[in-house]
Amino acid sequence: MTPGTPPIRVAVLGAGTVGAEVAARLLEHGDEFASRIGAPVVLAGVAVRDLDAPRTPALPRELLTTDIENLVLGANIVVELIGGVEDARRAVLLALESGADVVTGNKALLATHGPELFAAAERVGAQLNYEAAVAGAIPIIRPLRDSLAGDHVLRILGIVNGTTNFVLDRMDEHGDDFAGALATATRLGYAEADPTGDVSGADAAQKAAILAGLAFHTTVPLEAVAVEGIERVTADQVRAGRAAGYVVKLLAICERLTGPDGTEGVSARVHPALLPRSHPLAAVRGANNAVFVQSEAAGDLMFYGAGAGGRQTASAVLGDLVSVARRHVVGGPGLVPQPAGADLPVLDPGVVRTRYQITLSVRDEPGVLARLAGIVAEHGVSIETVEQSRASDDGTASLIIGTHAAPEAALSATVEALGAAAEVESVAGVLRIEGLERGDAA
Ligand code: HSE
Repeated sequence: MTPGTPPIRVAVLGAGTVGAEVAARLLEHGDEFASRIGAPVVLAGVAVRDLDAPRTPALPRELLTTDIENLVLGANIVVELIGGVEDARRAVLLALESGADVVTGNKALLATHGPELFAAAERVGAQLNYEAAVAGAIPIIRPLRDSLAGDHVLRILGIVNGTTNFVLDRMDEHGDDFAGALATATRLGYAEADPTGDVSGADAAQKAAILAGLAFHTTVPLEAVAVEGIERVTADQVRAGRAAGYVVKLLAICERLTGPDGTEGVSARVHPALLPRSHPLAAVRGANNAVFVQSEAAGDLMFYGAGAGGRQTASAVLGDLVSVARRHVVGGPGLVPQPAGADLPVLDPGVVRTRYQITLSVRDEPGVLARLAGIVAEHGVSIETVEQSRASDDGTASLIIGTHAAPEAALSATVEALGAAAEVESVAGVLRIEGLERGDAA
């Protein structure tokens, strides 16, 4: 480091589990970071809502402030970890407009206001890095932005929510039902007090929008991500899946595909799915995350690790900080990893090709199977497997139909028609089957 190099002033906004860890590691490893960056790094302050709130790790009181604006205006790099959308958006825009570079781990902010923030960064030549926004400690943003920039990403299958993976894993390993598995996740600290955003798939949808945008160089609005959560996954479905060689996972699926009229486009969706136990993602247990990327030249890649946790996520934030600070020292305009360039249309979820496993409760009478098979065929859907249980005392049997790949719209219309058939007592459940082969997309 050249003697006299001016220090880089870092402001950390938020001292929750990630923010406090980032600040503490900056204080503890400042010399090491300085030698990697080529300039001293100074933690200018940490913005908090409550100066007296207990926090782990503890931070020196004199670094804490409730005055975000003043802290931001005196910083070269702003690390936004306050969460939420509006306050974070204001702070990030203020930082960019004042000439600071920004590191954020805020997926909700990027999924809802990404284009505005990327444009602001581009306009002022600032950097906006967000490795921690998707899958915690796992490096996936920079691999998509940089390492795969010379390739053609075809598809991403991601387990990007640890809470739901923990819950589904409990259901698979212990036979728990959804409520029991969620209660265990809460008791062990894997689920938040209000787990709605996780179990509904909303958290994974934000991450899917970010991943799809980067992978396909296209803005994918959050509203365009089709989302289903895991609340209706039953212990019976998980058990039946297990018996058939599948595991149920909540997947974020981003695909490049061709619509029926030949339009090239992209799609992003989040839903529980049956995945063959031989698939690499099936081995992702507990609260871990993994992102499986299929690309034209590189082939299949998998990124695996901790998707949450203060210390683990701080690693991704600090990696961004070192990278941003290094460029700050070297000079030159910022490199904003923004989802732009190709601007492919986001196609209607109905054109996505997938497979369904449909579980029906049916009257066990002559001709039922043939009539139901006829309904499936009328929708242009081909049956791959059929399994029927013995009828119970009330004369109903359980029929599990596995389909070949077909457009989502045809499959959902098939389920609706089956549900309306006189022979069907109820549609007990529907799960998509994913990961059987490359090229499920049209
Ligand atoms: N709540 C998320 C999860 C972590 O359970 O994976 C932060 O996105």
